[in-house]
Amino acid sequence: MKIGIETISMYVPRYGLDLRILAEHRDVDYNKYHQGIGQEFMSVPSPDEDVVTMGANAAQQAMAGVDPTDVRTVIFATESGIDQSKAAAIYVHKLLSLPENCRTVEMKQACCSSSSALHFALATVALKPKEKVLIIASDIARYGLESAGEPTQGAGAVAMVISASPRIMEIGPEVGYFTEDVMDFWRPNYKNEALVDGKYSIKVYMNALEHCWKHYQEETHARFEDFDHFCYHLPFSRMGTKAHLHLARHEKAGLSSKELQAQVDPSLGYNRITGNAYTASLYMGLLSLLDNNDLNLAHKNIGFFSYGSGCMGAFFGGSVLPGYREHLNSSERAAWLRDRHHLTYEEYLSFYNHSLPQNGHNYRTSRHRSGAFRLAGVESHQRIYECVPAGAGASAESVKALAAAPAV
Ligand code: CAA
Repeated sequence: MKIGIETISMYVPRYGLDLRILAEHRDVDYNKYHQGIGQEFMSVPSPDEDVVTMGANAAQQAMAGVDPTDVRTVIFATESGIDQSKAAAIYVHKLLSLPENCRTVEMKQACCSSSSALHFALATVALKPKEKVLIIASDIARYGLESAGEPTQGAGAVAMVISASPRIMEIGPEVGYFTEDVMDFWRPNYKNEALVDGKYSIKVYMNALEHCWKHYQEETHARFEDFDHFCYHLPFSRMGTKAHLHLARHEKAGLSSKELQAQVDPSLGYNRITGNAYTASLYMGLLSLLDNNDLNLAHKNIGFFSYGSGCMGAFFGGSVLPGYREHLNSSERAAWLRDRHHLTYEEYLSFYNHSLPQNGHNYRTSRHRSGAFRLAGVESHQRIYECVPAGAGASAESVKALAAAPAV
């Protein structure tokens, strides 16, 4: 029985910042961002977006053409959850009017809980082949203003339906794992921004990659040359290149640097223009590879490395299915990414500094351009979500109005 990805879609906010503008304001050579870390543009969520609205927007697209009564499990993977108790999956379940006979949970392990969600989904479908699992990975990657991590910020969500009738990719059951208790990146409950030891986190990432690959080889006897392309967790796009060269060196791959680049480069494009989206980042890399490739990738084997600081890693493989292109909304995605609104530096600061009241006071969010769902505000300590009628949305004026208004 084949089990894998039946549908996959992504959502990124309508707004973003060109890193040329950030470089100018941080007095940094733009080449450091553009070449050194490989970033050009970062997605910035508007004040009426959070992980739930982004996740619901991605999931609505992933559910198109899927019978909702087949979905018995919704798993929401996130680092930037909105509640200590209630799963974000329940809000999405309601926004998408999914059937009540459904289990709905949230999972956490930094950026890699989405991959554990995927492997739990594969196991669920193997046990109950008629059931489908909706996975949502949604995150806002946020660092301190003027910190080294600032240019790697981003936001977005990926949703996938996992089933025994995959149309995009079959995923193998074997996984190479690695866990080690380290403090490379973490976020205490009282902090809105991650604490990170950046250089150390890169070392830990590479170490986890080596261990996961070794464990995967022990489980499967796979060789580096069994894979045609690779997708890595992308905190910034250059990390994917660094990781791939590291693994190739470690394996004495014997490929030219051009051949190695061709194995990884197509997966980096979306990250360069959206930034980090933690749990969603690896799967945006997969979409980038599938969307932006002149070659037909049917039957090609893809190696995946998922990394979550703290830390846990997973290496696994998948095989692209014939006809996958017909089930990707590649041109709609390209249009959405192209038509995003470029924020000024002042607008970026005002979006960054906006926060919901910390005391639970009632609050209405200003309306911005978003997808089909938005966060309308807070009432009696509860987040209120609403559907956005098609065509409704804010003009550039409301962005300016917010920029002029003091943060809450
Ligand atoms: N022109 C071209 N390149 C330049 C340059 C210039 N003018 N100036 C600097 N560079 C290059 C540097 O040589 C360096 O390249 P190498 O990595 O090849 O040496 C690169 O640009 C970055 O420069 P620095 O190392 O000096 O950059 P930095 O100290 O400002 O910070 C960072 C880089 C540590 C990645 C920082 O962005 C950060 O802390 N990011 C957040 C943490 C992170 O992403 N960690 C990754 C692993 S953890 C993870 O994956 C989980 C997760 O999602 C967070």
